Amino acid sequence: MSKKKDLRIGLVGYGFMGRTHSNAYRRIPNFFPELQYNPILKAVCARNEERVTAFAEQWGYESIETDWRKLVARDDIDAIDICTPNNMHAEIAIAAAEAGKMVLCEKPLARTVAEAQPMVDAVEKAGVPNTVYYNYRRIPAVTLAKQLIDAGKLGKIFHYRANFLQDWTISPELPQGGEGLWRLDNSAAGSGVTGDLLAHCIDTAMWLNGGIKDVSAMTETFIKERVHSKTGVKQEVTIDDACLFHCHFDNGSLGLFESTRYARGHKAHYTFEINGEHASIKWNLHDLSRLEYFDHRDESIERGWRSIHVTDEDQPYMDKWWVPGLSIGYEHSFVHQIADFLKALEEGKPCSPTFREAQETQKVCEAVLESAKSRSWKDTGVEWK
Ligand SMILES: NC(=O)c1ccc[n+]([C@@H]2O[C@H](COP(=O)([O-])OP(=O)(O)OC[C@H]3O[C@@H](n4cnc5c(N)ncnc54)[C@H](O)[C@@H]3O)[C@@H](O)[C@H]2O)c1
Repeated sequence: MSKKKDLRIGLVGYGFMGRTHSNAYRRIPNFFPELQYNPILKAVCARNEERVTAFAEQWGYESIETDWRKLVARDDIDAIDICTPNNMHAEIAIAAAEAGKMVLCEKPLARTVAEAQPMVDAVEKAGVPNTVYYNYRRIPAVTLAKQLIDAGKLGKIFHYRANFLQDWTISPELPQGGEGLWRLDNSAAGSGVTGDLLAHCIDTAMWLNGGIKDVSAMTETFIKERVHSKTGVKQEVTIDDACLFHCHFDNGSLGLFESTRYARGHKAHYTFEINGEHASIKWNLHDLSRLEYFDHRDESIERGWRSIHVTDEDQPYMDKWWVPGLSIGYEHSFVHQIADFLKALEEGKPCSPTFREAQETQKVCEAVLESAKSRSWKDTGVEWK
C-alpha cells in the first residue's frame, strides 16, 4: 500500500503554461518517486466547455469547470494552479487563499505592486503554501551557476548582464488583445516586455546576485496603434515593446538589462553573464544545458572558457533523469519547480520564490517603468534576503 498523500490540483487556464504545468505534474510520480505528495489532476478550468473537455481528456484531468469560482469552492481541491493572463492572477489567488487552498501562480505575480500586495497578504494571512513560477532558476545549468556563486568561486561580483530578446511583434498587422495576443494589451498584461520577459531576468538576477537597489530605464513602443482583436477598433498600444535599464545591486555590482520583441532572428534569447573578481559565468537559453565558466585562477597556459555540459548526476537535478551526457529541456524546469514545491510541503518549508519574494521582482519592474516614464533614477525599495 502506498503511503503517499494525494495533492489534488485544480488548474486554471489551458494555454501554453497550462500545458507545461500539466506535463510537469504527470512526470513527478515517475521521476521523483521519493516525494510523499502525489499530484492528482483533479480538475481543469477554462471558459470554453468543449475545449476544456478536450484538454482534460488529453492530459488526464478527472473533471472540468468553466467558472474558476466554482473550482476554488470545491472541497476536493487542495491546490489552485493559476495559468491565466496576468489580469486574472490576483482575483483567483486571493479567492483561493481565502478558501484555504495552496496557490501556485504564474509570473509576473500581478500587473502592479499595488495589485500584488493583497495577494501576498492573502496567502500569508491564510497560511497557505505558495510559489510563483520563475522557473528559469530550476534549469540545472542556472542552478549550478547559483552553486558556484554561493561557493565563492567568482569572488566579488562586478557586473551582471542579461538580455531577453524576441521578434514576434514586428508586424504592424498583428492585432492586440484577446486569445494569444493579450500580451500586447496593457489592461490584460500590465506591461510589455518588462513584466513578461525582464521579470524573469530580474528574478534570476536577484536570486544569483542579491537585491537591485535603484534603476535607470528607457522603454519604447515602436508600433503606436494596433487593431484590438476583440473590438476590431484601432487603439493606442500602451505596452513597452522594448526596455533597457541599468542598475546598482546591493552588493555594489552594476547591472545591465535589455529586452525587446523587435530583435529579428531571436525567438527566446535569454542570456546572462556575470563577471567576478576570480571568474565569470555565461548562460544562454538556446543552449540551456551548458554553463560557460572562466576561472582566472587556472594555470595561465590552460586558462580559457570552459563549456560545462550540465548533465552529470552530481549536477543539480540531473540524478533524476537519464545518464551523464544526455540533456534535458525547457519543460523540465517546471517539473523541478513542482517537485521542489512538494518537497517543501513535506518539510513544512516555503518554496522559493514565494509570493512575498515575487513581489520584490514586481517592485523592480515597477521602478523600471516609472524611471522610463519620468526619465530619472528610481529606488526600487527592494528588501532581498
Ligand atoms: N514561467 C514562464 O516562463 C511563462 C511563460 C509563458 C507565460 N507565462 C505566464 O503564464 C500566464 C499564462 O500565459 P500563457 O502563455 O499560458 O497564456 P495563454 O494565452 O496561452 O493561456 C491563457 C489561458 O487562460 C485562460 N483564461 C483566460 N481568462 C480566463 C478566465 N476568466 N477563466 C478561466 N481561464 C481563463 C485562457 O482560456 C487560456 O487557456 C501569464 O501570466 C504569463 O505571464 C509564464
